[in-house]
This record gives sequence, structure tokens and C-alpha cells, in this order.
Amino acid sequence: MKRLLAIILAAFMALSLVACEKEPEGIFPDDYDVSALTNPEIKYTLEELETLSKTELAADSVDAPALYKYFNNMKIGCAFGYNQCTNLNTPVAKSLLKHYNVFVLGNECKPAYINPAEGVFYFDDVDGFVEFGELNDVTLRGHTLLWHAQTPDWWYKADPADTRTVRECYEQGALATREQLTERITTFITEYVTRYKDDIDVWDLCNEVLNADSIRTVNDDSYWAEIIGDVDGNGYKDDYVELVANVARAADEDAILVINDFNMEWQASKTQAMYDMMERMFRKGVRIDGVGFQSHIGLDCNVELYRSQIEKIAGLAEIYDECFPEYKGNFRVQITELDMNMFVGSNSDGAFYKWTDEDYEKQAEKYAELFDMFQDFADEGVIDMVVLWGTDDGNSWLNSTPKLRRNAAMIVLREEEGFLLKPCFWSIARTSFDHYTVE
Ligand code: GLA
Repeated sequence: MKRLLAIILAAFMALSLVACEKEPEGIFPDDYDVSALTNPEIKYTLEELETLSKTELAADSVDAPALYKYFNNMKIGCAFGYNQCTNLNTPVAKSLLKHYNVFVLGNECKPAYINPAEGVFYFDDVDGFVEFGELNDVTLRGHTLLWHAQTPDWWYKADPADTRTVRECYEQGALATREQLTERITTFITEYVTRYKDDIDVWDLCNEVLNADSIRTVNDDSYWAEIIGDVDGNGYKDDYVELVANVARAADEDAILVINDFNMEWQASKTQAMYDMMERMFRKGVRIDGVGFQSHIGLDCNVELYRSQIEKIAGLAEIYDECFPEYKGNFRVQITELDMNMFVGSNSDGAFYKWTDEDYEKQAEKYAELFDMFQDFADEGVIDMVVLWGTDDGNSWLNSTPKLRRNAAMIVLREEEGFLLKPCFWSIARTSFDHYTVE
């Protein structure tokens, strides 16, 4: 009996050893063949593209043209949730691997996820994201090192264990000191940026630090300026931006550091505030390599106004080159969170709204107008990257913000609608032929 048990035990151990050996090291199988399963190399002539655009093609279809292939002088990216990239056999994961050469995690790279409590760092999702990016060797954007939202509350409190809200701490004089917050952000950024030095190429250094015309304050729900304050006494409370930039730069000399913000597409006062702040940073010797236009725009977007705002920011390149001659030409504009709210004017509501072919055509025209403008700037070396904020119409924050309604913001239909490439996908690809010949 004992002998029989010993044999069974030995057999069991041998089997588990085999099973262990087969375990892949990371979360993705080593033999996943991106080319065979998604063909990220495929592109067509203009004539072929016209013909294909009249057919129904799913975004993950092997025959679909790979979007990024159409843009030689700027990269095309997409933001997604970590759970959208962990199963490689899903339409979403395949379409990501096919169409984009820049990946962004929409939420899981933010401070609240990474550093939820003092001394706690959660890097598992970012590690998986890096592994996903390696399948296709794409550029990874880290979004974002600092923001006023999705930041761990404990950072702002004198006592990290304080159970009061940050607002209450502010009102009752219990916010962290400048020294405490400086120490926390320095530890966080040093740990984080150093860890991904070889993997993440571009960082959104700070997100949304401005209100309509100056640095955000407690009245705009941001405690950064309040706590760090005006360290150098120049009259501006943007010194925390300088702090964050210097710490990130010390951790990764070659990283592309970008300041990201919204509404600059149309709000001239904000664009001016961004210009002024960046100039102040440059003249203080703080090297920040770009400005991100989030670009949460609507179907009614005024593209010429948007163009003039990008032109304004592009003018910073001259000051950057003057201040950092050894990095001449390294300043850029990036389009970081592009999507298109379809509810404009009278169509302002609709949880069950059904979009018509005509609506999709209008959207296709607007997206084409935008990409034409982006490529004008890419041709001049101003824009180097455009990132879409969502994988398909079903995966977009615009379905729930500012309220629950069925939006159609992205370039791919929902999975329940076949995950088809929309007219705007085709119109975007088509614009590239006006800028250069795709070989
Ligand atoms: C802002 C942020 C993003 C994201 C979107 C909404 O634009 O920069 O990280 O939270 O809002 O999805």
C-alpha cells in the first residue's frame, strides 16, 4: 500500500513539474504570432482602399488595413483598459495589435492605482502593459505622473492615516507640508520612472494643471499649488510642475516629458497660459519636451481655430531650442486623447440613440478634416503622435460622461454591431494619400 502511495505521489510530482515547465514566464504566450493573427503590416493603394471601404470589415479582420501604416511621419495610438489587453484572442486586443504603434493605459498608470497607500506600489498592470507592448514593439505612453484627480488622498494629508477628506483637511489645517508632499512625489516618481526607464518612452508629466487662464487652485479641486506654493518667489505657483519635471528628468534623462491639458483646442486664454508657463519653465532650465492637446472634441469642432492654437504652442519650439541647444528639434505637440462627442446641438440626449449613415458620414468628414490638419503639422515636424481615447464606440468615457447616453465617438463600431470599421476609419486613412504616397 505504502509503495503504491509513493508511486502515485512521484507520478503526481513529475506531472506538476511538467506543468510548471510549460507555464509561460509572462502573461502572454511566447509563441503568439502577431503577424499571422492580425497582420499589422497590411496596407493598400488608394484604389484598393476605396473598394474595401464599401465592404463590411471588422477592425480585427486580418484583411483590414493597419491604420498606423498610413502615417509615415506621425505615430497613431490608442488608449485602453488593462483588462482589454490581457486576452489576446479578443477582437479588441487583436485590433490594438493591428492598428496602432502607440499604446496608453487609460487608468492603470495613474498615481492612485500605483501608490494607493504609503509604502505600497502596485506595478502588476503596468508590467503587463509593457509586456503587451513588447508583442509589437510599440511606443508606450505613461499617463500620468501627476494630476489633481485619481491621485491618492494620503499624499495630501499631514497624517496619511487621517480619515477626513482632503477638503476637510484643507479647511481644518491638516494638509501635508511642502516638505512632506515633495518627499512623497519624489519617492513615487523616482521609483516609477526608474522602473520603466527602458520601456516607457513618453510620460504625461502633469495632467490638467491649468484652469481657463492660470494654474489650478483649491477652487478647481487641485491642492498642488496650495501645498507646494511659490518656491522661487516669482509670483507663480507652478513650482510643483518644475519639481515633478526635475525628478522625472533625474530618473530618465532621455524620456519625452509632456504637459497634457484639455480645451486648448478652442480656448485661447488657456493656450496662452500654457505658452507662458512653458516659457517660464524653459527659461528656468526645466526641460519639458512637449505639450499634449487632449482633444476631447465634438462633431462641431472648429478645425481652423484648433489649428491656430496648435500653431501658437508650436512657437515654443524656438524658445526650447534656444534654452536647450543640445536638444534642438526635440520639442513637439502631441494629440493625446482624441475622441469626438456626437451629441451636439439638439441631439443632446439619448441613452438609446441610433446613429444614421448620414451621422457617420458627417463624422467621417470631421475626422478627415482633423487628420488632414494633424498631418500638415506632422509634415512640418510639429506633431509626432495622435492617440485615440478608446478602442471602439462601446469603450469610450463619452457613453457615461457627462451623462449616460449612447455616443459614437470612436472609429470602430461596438462589438455588438460587428466591431466594424466606421466611415471615419476609412476617411482618416484616405487623408494620408494627400500628404505622401504610401509605398
Ligand atoms: C481626462 C484624463 C484621462 C481620462 C479622461 C476621461 O481627459 O486626462 O485620463 O480620465 O479624462 O476618460
